[in-house]
Amino acid sequence: MKKNNKLKVSIIMGSQSDYKVMKLAEKTLKKIGVSFETKIISAHRTPQRMYEYAAKVEQNHIGVIIAGAGGSAHLPGMISALTHLPVLGVPVESKKLKGLDSLLSIVQMPKGIPVGTLAIGEDGAINAALLAAAIIANNNSNVRKKLKNFRTSHTKSVKKSPK
Ligand code: RP5
Repeated sequence: MKKNNKLKVSIIMGSQSDYKVMKLAEKTLKKIGVSFETKIISAHRTPQRMYEYAAKVEQNHIGVIIAGAGGSAHLPGMISALTHLPVLGVPVESKKLKGLDSLLSIVQMPKGIPVGTLAIGEDGAINAALLAAAIIANNNSNVRKKLKNFRTSHTKSVKKSPK
């Protein structure tokens, strides 16, 4: 496989209010030493910004996109439709339906335009970062090593006995 150590992760979200969840993706990527950028892009409030982002994203050394959105969360699907990069969707918890609407909007993409969908909220943001890091690790031995160390310490953090 071709080596490309420069690939970054792009974290996008539909609103400033999503950042309280999506900052956990940033925190996780930092721990594993994966470079990233973070942007607010709303599919329905800033559609032009979304098209401009999608037009340039493949030239910008981005290997994976993490897209977080709440409500009728169409951002991850729209971004997947506009690029050929892997898109990981994080359903952000909504006020009315606790994120079930976000989850179903993201996970139920019709065939042809995939979005890898994670859990609702903070667990989803963390796992999206870990999955993005695993994709980047295919061509980056540094990230692969750090990801393995992360997993080892995660395993070690589980005590054998509750006492
Ligand atoms: C979506 O609407 C965003 O992704 C956010 O989760 C939700 C609410 O946005 P705000 O009203 O907080 O800006 O577009």
